[in-house]
This record gives sequence, structure tokens and C-alpha cells, in this order.
Amino acid sequence: MFSIDCHNVKKSETSTLPSLRVLIVEDSYMDYGLLVRLLGVAGYTVDPKRVETAEAMREALAEKSWDAVISDHNMPDFSSTAALQILKETGVDVPFIIVSGAIGEDIAVEAMIAGADDYILKSRLPRLVPALRRSLAAAATRRAERAAQARLRLLSSHLELVKEMERKSIAREIHDDLGGLLTGMAFDLSWLRSNAASDAVKDRLNSMQGTLMQASASIEHIMRELRPPILELGIVAAVEWQAREFSRRYGTPCHFTTNREVITMREEYSAAMFRICQESLSNVARHAGAKTIRIEMFADNDSVALEVIDDGFGFSDENQLKAGSYGLLGMRERAASLDGWLEVSSAPGRGTSIMLSLPLIERVFEVGEAS
Ligand SMILES: Nc1ncnc2c1ncn2[C@@H]1O[C@H](COP(=O)(O)OP(=O)(O)O)[C@@H](O)[C@H]1O
Ligand SMILES: [Mg+2]
Repeated sequence: MFSIDCHNVKKSETSTLPSLRVLIVEDSYMDYGLLVRLLGVAGYTVDPKRVETAEAMREALAEKSWDAVISDHNMPDFSSTAALQILKETGVDVPFIIVSGAIGEDIAVEAMIAGADDYILKSRLPRLVPALRRSLAAAATRRAERAAQARLRLLSSHLELVKEMERKSIAREIHDDLGGLLTGMAFDLSWLRSNAASDAVKDRLNSMQGTLMQASASIEHIMRELRPPILELGIVAAVEWQAREFSRRYGTPCHFTTNREVITMREEYSAAMFRICQESLSNVARHAGAKTIRIEMFADNDSVALEVIDDGFGFSDENQLKAGSYGLLGMRERAASLDGWLEVSSAPGRGTSIMLSLPLIERVFEVGEAS
């Protein structure tokens, strides 16, 4: 039992403090009443509830959302330590303040490390309101930061999609526009060649035809880079193709395994996975000196993982942050912008593994996209 001197508690200057849904973990009904009164005197419109067991606390947390939890430290069937643990388990970020008749410094420190926002001795109860205000403001800042981060991730993932759509549309324009013009020129050239008056003109026209073929090849190449056509067959086929291409080009075996024949991913996700795989393989070719490479793809209902493993030279952590090296950095950023993650494990002489995980988000058709 404790008493308060309400005259020591300043009423809010504006006296328009917001309503406060406060869960009070307290075995003494009288102490609970005093706490509620104290908060009321401070200007809060209090919406309180008292619990004194773990079960009741869990129920209260599930029942509605709370602005703060104030907990006694020692109760016959419960403690602030257990109450804090329960709050943390729910993952809800609200201030947790311990109000105790006697709490040792070591227990207080432990509680703060475990995530309590503050602790108040019952003999110094007027400290509660300022501590509560501070903790509420800190929690609001944390929430705002999380919301800003979520918005940023949403924006980044939207940018990824826009980038892919843009690439696709440029590839289409190049194909339809430039491709058509080159075909027309090739026809005219062949007519001119067969009607050329002299050998000198014929030679020039032959050389022009060679240049025209080079231009076609270069357009093909640019189009493939902009939008790998193999991606149209799905991410599994596209990664399998990369493994085959790698083995063929470098003569180093690259084995591909997957737990699913078909994985349906949204366009910006499959494009990101494809490009990260491409960049990982290009690193293997440039830096690893590997004898074999394995690419493993694993999908469950929520995510797709891709791992590129080589048995090459490996590298130390410092190499990851080399000036002018943006490959690994870019892969990480790309994964994070889509709410996924990338893990690099490597050590000199131990080979390298690049593990990417992307969430499997339901395929939605964007405006302007063919269905
Ligand atoms: N598979 C690998 N095997 C050995 N070393 C690697 C591998 N991947 C990356 N590295 C090392 O990490 C560095 C950074 O890689 P990255 O960020 O892709 O930049 P870059 O390839 O342009 O150098 C490389 O320069 C290389 O030293
Ligand atoms: Mg690289």
C-alpha cells in the first residue's frame, strides 16, 4: 500500500492530455485506485484496467490496444519481470514502467536491459507522470520511425517495379521501332546490291550490310540486357538457364537444384532474383577460381531462397567493403528494398555462399500490364 500527495502532481498546463488506455499490473486494489487517480489529476482521461496474473494480462493485451503498462514489481502470483516478458512476446511497442515499493538497483538495471522504459519507487510517485510522458513520446517517435521505414521500403519496391516496367517498355520500343527500320534497310540494301552498277559500289554495299548485321546483333544484346526473354518462362527456368550458360561459357560445372518446378513471383521480385544471381555468378567468374558451383532454389509458402555456392578462393570481410566495389552492396540494397535479405558467407580458402531470400508476395497485375 502506498499513498500519494496529489498536490505535488502538476496538472497538465493545457489540461487537454489525450485519453490514456493504461494496463496496470497490481495486486492491491487500493494502489491501483491511487495510480488511476494520480494519472487523472495529471490531466489524463484514464481508461484503466487492473490485472494481477499472467493469464489476465495476456487476455487484456489480446482484448484491445494499450498506450502504456504500469507494473508493480512483486506480487504474490506475478512479477514485473514476467509481465515485461509477456508484453515483449506480443511484439507491441508500448511503454512499460515499473512502480515498486522497493526495487534493488540490480533488478532495476536488469529490467531496463530487458526493455522496461523506467522504474519509479512508490515513495517517489510524483516522478511517474513525467516518466510516463517521456516514455509515451519516445514510443511515438519509434512508431513514426518504423512507419517512415515501411514507407521507404514500399517506395523502393515500387521503384524496382517501375524500373523493370520501364526496361521492358524500352526493350519493346527498340524491338518494334528500330528493329522494323533495320529490317526495311536490309531489304533495300539487298535490292541495291543486286542492282549495283559497279563492283566498287557492290563492295561498299557489302560492307554496309556487315555493319547492319552488327547493328542488329547489338540491338539484340541491348534488348536481352534490358529484359532477359528467359524471364518470361518464370524464375526457375531463368535461373536454370543461367546455370547452364555459366557451365557452357566457362567450362566449370554449375549444378542447379530446386524444390519446385514453377515458382510464381511478382515481376520486380523475379527480376531482382535473376539479376542478383547474375551478379553472383559474374563474381564467381571474375574472382573465385572455383572448380564447381551450386545454385539452390528453395520456395515455401512465404518466401523464395536462392543460394549460389562456390568452392573457390573465398574472401575476407574487408573485401566486401572495397572502395569502388558496388556489386555486393547493390545486391543487398536490392534485396532490402523488396523486404528480403542477402547474406554473404565467405572466408579465404573456404569458398563463398551468397544467400538471398525474398518474400513471396501474391502476384498482382499492375495498370498497363497484360493479364
Ligand atoms: N565468389 C567470390 N569469390 C571470391 N571473391 C569474391 C567473390 N565475390 C566477391 N568477391 C570479392 O569481393 C569483392 C567485392 O565484390 P563486388 O562488390 O561484387 O565488387 P567487384 O566485383 O566489382 O569487385 C570482389 O572484388 C572480390 O574481392
Ligand atoms: Mg562484382
